[in-house]
Amino acid sequence: MSTPQPSAGDRRSLGGPVDPSVDLNLAPPPAATADDEQVELVEADERPPGRAPRDIPDPPPVVRHGPARVLAVCNQKGGVGKTTSTINLGAALAEYGRRVLLVDFDPQGALSVGLGVQPHQLEQTIYNLIMERSVAVEDVLLRTSVKDMDLLPSNIDLSAAEIQLVAEVGREHTLVRTLRPLVSDYDYILVDCQPSLGLLTVNALAAADGVIIPLECEFFSLRGLALLIDTIEKVKERLNPKLDITGILATMYDPRTLHSREVMARVVEAFGDIVFDTVINRTVRFPETTVAGEPITRWAPRSAGASAYRQLAREVIAR
Ligand SMILES: Nc1ncnc2c1ncn2[C@@H]1O[C@H](COP(=O)(O)OP(=O)(O)OP(=O)(O)O)[C@@H](O)[C@H]1O
Ligand SMILES: [Mg+2]
Repeated sequence: MSTPQPSAGDRRSLGGPVDPSVDLNLAPPPAATADDEQVELVEADERPPGRAPRDIPDPPPVVRHGPARVLAVCNQKGGVGKTTSTINLGAALAEYGRRVLLVDFDPQGALSVGLGVQPHQLEQTIYNLIMERSVAVEDVLLRTSVKDMDLLPSNIDLSAAEIQLVAEVGREHTLVRTLRPLVSDYDYILVDCQPSLGLLTVNALAAADGVIIPLECEFFSLRGLALLIDTIEKVKERLNPKLDITGILATMYDPRTLHSREVMARVVEAFGDIVFDTVINRTVRFPETTVAGEPITRWAPRSAGASAYRQLAREVIAR
């Protein structure tokens, strides 16, 4: 099945000078050869290809909290680092004195698990909050181990919402209605989306000011991007004119492989300035943090992964 390519106008309107002639589909990786190790590996300490890093100002101190910027962390491709980025960006923003609310908007509940919550033991989740008028935010909201970072957890119940919402009036605006009373209490609300472009994700996009797109540095990862950008454009046109792409975040970057570098170069070529300078390297530290139920900024505060998410937080604050 071929994915629709957005027109040049579509891409340009989402920010950054974008070269419309750039083809997003990479050639398939070459077949493995005996010489692969020599062919593929490049100097590990080289910077990712693209442009020179930009100056990121120090985040100004916050004098008054709110109103929150709502950011949807979104990519319909599974396992690209949405949940990992939501947790760790949130924790890094909180370290910079921002009040942060994380919204687990995936029935898998991985964000909740990553923060040490057992989703199946929860009586009330974001599902109850969006579907039942009688449920109050305080019944669902959880404090996390990170100061100034709260969580609206989810579990498998949320999968029913996708079906139930279809029959509702204003079905795309359910999340925005739920979040409205919370906006004044926080500086950032990060919504971790499920890997699909269904109604829950459309709700997240309709509630958001910006979208962060984690993109795995791998062959084929660019394939679904055109469809995602097309969906964001449609939501912007029809439901939420303020929606923009805040940035594309390269994740699982392996500085030793040529193909990571090639994907990165192509993304920067196609999307220019909206690609974050921050790149998240592939490291086993991230799966470890899930087991620990803590963000990397607490689990391994001096690790390269923690610094990367701190740098991302600075970029997000600056945008
Ligand atoms: N930079 C990284 N390096 C290595 N492993 C990573 C990295 N980021 C995430 N992971 C691991 O990859 C797996 C998928 O990550 P994550 O759950 O964040 O992706 P996701 O996009 O939210 O997935 P899903 O689409 O299923 O919601 C997890 O096991 C996570 O620990
Ligand atoms: Mg996830």
